[in-house]
Amino acid sequence: MMPFSAILLALLPCAMGEGQAGTLYCFACVTPNTYEVGMIAAMARLGVGLFECNGYDIISNTTADQLFVNYPDVAGMLKDKVHVINKNLYVPMVRGPAGHDSSSPQTDPNSPLYEGKKAIMKHLVNAPVFKDVWQSIFDIGAFGNFDYTCKLDVDAVIVPKRLSGMLSARPGDEEEYFLNAYHDMYGNFLHGPVELISKKGMTLDDH
Ligand SMILES: *[C@@H]1O[C@H](CO)[C@@H](O)[C@H](O)[C@H]1NC(C)=O
Repeated sequence: MMPFSAILLALLPCAMGEGQAGTLYCFACVTPNTYEVGMIAAMARLGVGLFECNGYDIISNTTADQLFVNYPDVAGMLKDKVHVINKNLYVPMVRGPAGHDSSSPQTDPNSPLYEGKKAIMKHLVNAPVFKDVWQSIFDIGAFGNFDYTCKLDVDAVIVPKRLSGMLSARPGDEEEYFLNAYHDMYGNFLHGPVELISKKGMTLDDH
């Protein structure tokens, strides 16, 4: 017969764990004076998408008051949630290196499927902006309270409960990064409207 304490321990994960695993910390970078502002304001009012995550923050290059100047209720609601990076958020679009994307032979001059220069992928040069955005997320540090950190494009609307449900079955204590799409419908590759990293992945010493 099992000792009483062992039975209790066996029951514990069910009793406590239900609905708790796979918690999500979400963030998005919002550019002022673009459609993103109205979109994030609408989601905030409805409490959907990013705002349904267990925790969330917003990064911009201006304060909540200025970002949501046309949505004073939202400005108030998100007063402490908008974190400012000192950066221009528009970035240029450039041509990617020819043939670089092995998943797209139409961009590879050495492939019989090559479609010429028009097929060459274009990239938004947004790494310098997102380097600062991620640094801000590390500085805020709230990600440490959740199982997964999720970067969202403003127009990537997720259903956090569904995603948490899927993630709750995962080991939970591993370094996990979920690979971006190879390319999107426009041919941009490594497009990451949703980027997901486990807590252990976030706390790697050598990131
Ligand atoms: C924020 O970024 C936008 C887009 O690059 C730029 O037009 C604007 O001047 C920036 N605002 C501040 C306060 O830096």
